Amino acid sequence: DLQALHGLERGLLRIAGVTTTEYFIARWLRRYTDSHPGIEIELAVDNRDAVVRRLRQDETELAVMMMPPDNLPLQRVPLMRNPLVLIGPAGHPWAGARRVPRKSLDGQPMLMREAGSGTRLATEAYLRTHGLTPALRATLGSNEAIKHAVAAGLGLAVLSRHALAEDPAQDGVAVLPVAGFPIERRWLLVWRSDRRLSLAARRFVEHVQDHPPDADAASAGKGRAGDDRAG
Ligand code: PGA
Repeated sequence: DLQALHGLERGLLRIAGVTTTEYFIARWLRRYTDSHPGIEIELAVDNRDAVVRRLRQDETELAVMMMPPDNLPLQRVPLMRNPLVLIGPAGHPWAGARRVPRKSLDGQPMLMREAGSGTRLATEAYLRTHGLTPALRATLGSNEAIKHAVAAGLGLAVLSRHALAEDPAQDGVAVLPVAGFPIERRWLLVWRSDRRLSLAARRFVEHVQDHPPDADAASAGKGRAGDDRAG
């Protein structure tokens, strides 16, 4: 049968994911390896700009990101939702409110990911669109560093809901109910349309299409990954 046939396939799957994918991508890879045991996986985890560079330089065949570049010919398959939430330290006075007006963000101390991060790009675009002007207090190079800095009271930040524990209090943070949040984004699986995919990569694309990561179970507040469908 098909499973047995796939079991005989050999190859290397080169895939690159933005840093926020590290919280869930192993689950997809696990299912893929179950049905394709002969294929070895090489996963790179980087920020958005570095993932784009890998695609451009043929260092990866597949990539998972929110905002693919316009200047590369790409095929894309939508994956799961990625709500970007506004977080503050646990016990923050806004945490208990029903809804906080967007403008309250003006002048608030903000933490940002490094330049090149897709989370930062999405956050800046959002702030610009709404004319919001928080005060940038620090730039930090990882989601975990952001989380710990928010918990320590350094400032507020925008972070993928998937980067937080099911109960964000476990991370020492609270999701703040500011109007307009979460910023709704979605991850895409992309590859260059001007390249021929290897068998391993083609099989992965087929696998993702056959087992779509469940977008709706990934809703904000429902936990990290929402990819709970049985394989
Ligand atoms: P990043 O990931 O902030 O690690 O770049 C976000 C994205 O582009 O999905």
